[in-house]
This record gives sequence, structure tokens and C-alpha cells, in this order.
Amino acid sequence: MSTHDRTPESTDDVVRYVTTCRVCGSEEWQEVVSFGEVPLANGFLEVTDSVAQERAYPLEVISCRECRLLSLTAVVDPQVLYRTYSYVTSDSETMARHMRTVAELARDRYGLAEGDLVVELGSNTGDQLLAFREAVGARVLGVDPARNLARIAEDRGVPTLPDYFDSATARAVAGEHGKASLILGRHVFAHIDDVADVLAGARELLTEDGLFTIEVPYAVDLVERLAFDTIYHEHLSYFLISTLDRLFSRHGLRTVDVERLAVHGGSVLVSAGRADGRWQTSERVRELIAAERDGGYLSDARYEAFATRVRRTCADLTALVRGLVAQGHRVAGYGASAKGTTLLNICGLSSEELEFCTDTTPQKQGRLTPGTHIPVLAPGDVTEQPDYYLLLAWNYAEEILAKESRFLNEHGGFIVPVPEPTVRTGAVSAK
Ligand code: TMP
Ligand code: ZN
Repeated sequence: MSTHDRTPESTDDVVRYVTTCRVCGSEEWQEVVSFGEVPLANGFLEVTDSVAQERAYPLEVISCRECRLLSLTAVVDPQVLYRTYSYVTSDSETMARHMRTVAELARDRYGLAEGDLVVELGSNTGDQLLAFREAVGARVLGVDPARNLARIAEDRGVPTLPDYFDSATARAVAGEHGKASLILGRHVFAHIDDVADVLAGARELLTEDGLFTIEVPYAVDLVERLAFDTIYHEHLSYFLISTLDRLFSRHGLRTVDVERLAVHGGSVLVSAGRADGRWQTSERVRELIAAERDGGYLSDARYEAFATRVRRTCADLTALVRGLVAQGHRVAGYGASAKGTTLLNICGLSSEELEFCTDTTPQKQGRLTPGTHIPVLAPGDVTEQPDYYLLLAWNYAEEILAKESRFLNEHGGFIVPVPEPTVRTGAVSAK
């Protein structure tokens, strides 16, 4: 891989290549895995789009030898990724429950009270803020650069700035709305390149005893559960708690608490307070940091083993699906998720193997999956069920398998791709 050889002049006009660690400033990288060139995870095509014009970008993961940030090498311009965004928070029971949990945790553990200001970055269509309003009676403000989504949130009564959260936005918000008791970023912090500016803004906007809380995929879960398909261009960073701790302390913040969560294949909800505020670091934080060190997450070997397992799982999955197709079975995708784009592209599965993908998101229906050009159908538009569904939205496995118990009992099976490809048929518990 040629990460260090690329000069800014030789890069694509919308790609920046990482040389310096966004957490600690080091330039010492371990090259972990390269998936070649992959199109954007949410770059669903219109049927009339020219396939020849579809662009792909390098998808490579490196690990900082100093702070163990896992980072992509290629940072695609956020204007390309987010100004109109087809990712809409899943309208799933799992997610609704999770959002209630986040709001209740802020109320019960951190004392968030009625009338307190909650600012959310990457607020999408406003679901999480509505949960805060309901559980706490908080004042809420969303910040999201996707204008199409900000408009939907506004229509649902959630005031939303159609902007990126940076230090300038934070200053403007503080001027207009006062300081925030909670600044929340769920599954958005890992999308941000200039984390220093966001943290400077957060620090300025927080009340003295306020909390900056982020939910990010946990690097330990990524490695242990082999959730390699969560690697795509939107996810620039994969964090350990020790890496975040180091980042926060560089920016006048102190890690306060952490909660491990099952969502999106294993995430952490990490809170930080102002270093000059009253919050202290919890035992849970110390324990996880120690476990990361003891588990080998500060050394190259852990990531080398990860890359080997990823290649094996990919090869196994491709062999399994192609084998089923060769036996005359019909296979389709279930949930045209962003991670599905990674999985299908890097495992080399396409419309040759999968007849269609179903997805409940209206914005994706009628389009083609990025790179692999599989038609996306609304579940209700499937006229004849396939023999197998490849579960591309495996993070909702239990909810989906329960919902599809009739298909499982009467038709066929679900292929769950990670941590190793597994076929589930018949009763939901069968493996
Ligand atoms: P996400 O994990 O990024 O939320 O993506 C999950 C995708 O799967 C999203 O496009 C919605 C889709 N989906 C379904 O099609 N059916 C379902 O039952 C669920 C839960 C999600
Ligand atoms: Zn670093």
C-alpha cells in the first residue's frame, strides 16, 4: 500500500489521504487491511444512472502505532457524502428501544433534567431528540448537514440546523440558545475527520457540568465479532476507549463514563466532561482501558490476526453463496444496508448471485446497490420469495428473524454473514 507515497497533487479531487493521526499526531502506521477500490456505501444508483460513471475509492485500514486509532487512509469529501444522504435511521423496534435507553440513561445516571438543552450532531430525522423530549422534557436542537433530512426533522417539530457541527456552529448555537447540558453524537463522531475542531466546539458549548456523549462502533467489537463490513468510507475512525481517552484529554475534556451496547454490531456510549468540571472518571472506563491493553489491542499482532480472519470469512461466504446458486437455489439480499455495500463488493457478490435486495427505506427502493447493481425492492414488492436471504442488516438479526419466522418455516433460510457465515433455517433458534 502506498499511503505514505501519495502527494496531495496526485490524489483524487475529492479524496484526502491521511498521513498524520487525527488523535495523537503520530505518523507511524501499521497497514492493517486493504479492500481495494469500493464505491460509497450509500451511493445507491438510479436505474437510469450511467454505471460507467460510478466512482470507487480506496478502502484501506491503518492502525496508529502510537495511540491505536484505526483509521481509513482515504477521506472522501463530506460534501460528496452527506449533503443529500440516503441513510435514514432505521424505523426498527430495536433502534426505538435503544434511543429511549440513551435518553433514560442521561436522565437517570447523569441527571439531565427538564428544560436542559440537548444538542445533537448528526441528528438525522430527529428520532433521538424526540426521545429526549419525551423522556426528559429537554429543550432540543439538531445539527445535521443533510438538508433533505433536516427538513424532515423540522417537519416533525425538531428544530434542526442544516449544518456541520464545528467550532463555528457551536459558538453560534451557544450565542442563540445558551450552553448545552448534553451534546450528543450517535454514530457520527467516527465520520468526522477534524475531530479537534469538533471537540473545541463541544468544550465551548458545554455547561461547566455538561457532558459530551458519543456513540461509536467499538474497535474491540469490530475485531472480536469480525464486523468488517462496518468498514466503509463514512467511518473514518474505529476507536478504543484508551484512544478516545487520550483524545479527550488533549482537548480539555475528561472521560467520565462508558457503556457497552449491542447496537450496530457492538458500540460504546462514551461520555466526557470538561476537565475543569465536576465529573470524575468511572471505574468502568478504567476497567475497559486495562482490558484493551491486556487483550493485545495495543500491538500489531491483534490487527494482523483480524485481517487474516476477514479474508477467510469473505472467502467462506462467497463459496457458500456461489455453492447455493450452483445448486439451483435462488438467493436475495435482506436489507440493502451500508455495510452490505462493503460486504458484497469486497466478497465479489453481485447481481450474478443475488436476484434482488429488499429494504424498507423508501429512498433506496427502486434503485441499484452501489458497485454490485442489484435492484432494491420494497419487501411488499417481492412476488416470489427466494430460497435464501443473505442478511445484510445482520445487526438486526434477532428482530428480522423473528419477523420473518413464516419465511423461515415455510420457504428457506437466512445466511448470517459474520462472524462466520451461518445458515439459519426453520425454527428461529436453529443454527
Ligand atoms: P442500518 O444498520 O445502517 O440501520 O441499515 C439497515 C438497513 O436494513 C436499512 O437500509 C433498513 C433495512 N432494514 C430492512 O430492510 N428491514 C428491517 O426489518 C430492518 C430492521 C432494516
Ligand atoms: Zn494516533
